[in-house]
Amino acid sequence: MLNFNEYLQTNFIGRNVVARENIPSTNDLAKQLAAKGAPNGTIVIADEQSAGRGRLNRGWYSPKGGGLWFSLILRPGDFVAPVDAAKFTLLTAVAVIFTMQKFSLTAKIKWPNDILFDGKKLVGILTEMSATDERINHIVVGAGINVNIATEDFPPDIAQIATSLLIMRGAPLNEGQFLAAFLAEFEKLYINVANERGFSSVLNKWRKHSATIGNEVTVFGIGETFSGIAEDIDNDGALLVRTTVGLRKVLAGDVSVRSRRN
Ligand code: BTN
Repeated sequence: MLNFNEYLQTNFIGRNVVARENIPSTNDLAKQLAAKGAPNGTIVIADEQSAGRGRLNRGWYSPKGGGLWFSLILRPGDFVAPVDAAKFTLLTAVAVIFTMQKFSLTAKIKWPNDILFDGKKLVGILTEMSATDERINHIVVGAGINVNIATEDFPPDIAQIATSLLIMRGAPLNEGQFLAAFLAEFEKLYINVANERGFSSVLNKWRKHSATIGNEVTVFGIGETFSGIAEDIDNDGALLVRTTVGLRKVLAGDVSVRSRRN
């Protein structure tokens, strides 16, 4: 099992650890534990997931020794409203970018939640929430970080679209150190949201590292597809796309990005 405790410098994020060798999905176990009262900041981590879940009912490849597959249980009900819960996805993406910088690695964020290198996916984030109309009970933020997967070890169906920190660096990375560094970055951003009672500085940081803003995008929405220039994200975290018929606000969906600089 992964040892990251010796590197951990946080106060509450990642302090309560639930570690398993092989489970279907850390998000599913985290949701069960959260419903039973697990404390804020609990991390559920698995060496391997047999049914890792992605967005839009996709799977997530989570082999043993290949990467970090974990979920954080958060209880921000005192300072975040249910409508803002999805912004923890953006916060998590920013925390990954900052962690990578500590390891001299640079990557970009594709709206809303993909971390890309060379146009290929390095990290996926899946945020799920339990709430009443007015108040968040808990949030589960699941992250899959491809750390030590070699090109030839990806299954053929994702080999063309996925990458790893190993592939980026050309050398393996200490997963425990990387996770501890990530948890520290995450905690800083979380405390910042609590202090500011909002996500505006997180959104600004997200904008700075975006691969989407300023580029031509095709949006695959529910029942429609359209193209335009991604101008910004607004305070809801929605993507604003300038199309021939005006500005469109995209709250959910998938986008493909074509750089205007090439
Ligand atoms: C996506 O990009 O579609 C999101 C992928 C999220 C994968 C992580 S791995 C840990 C956690 N447990 C899951 O079942 N999914 C998330």
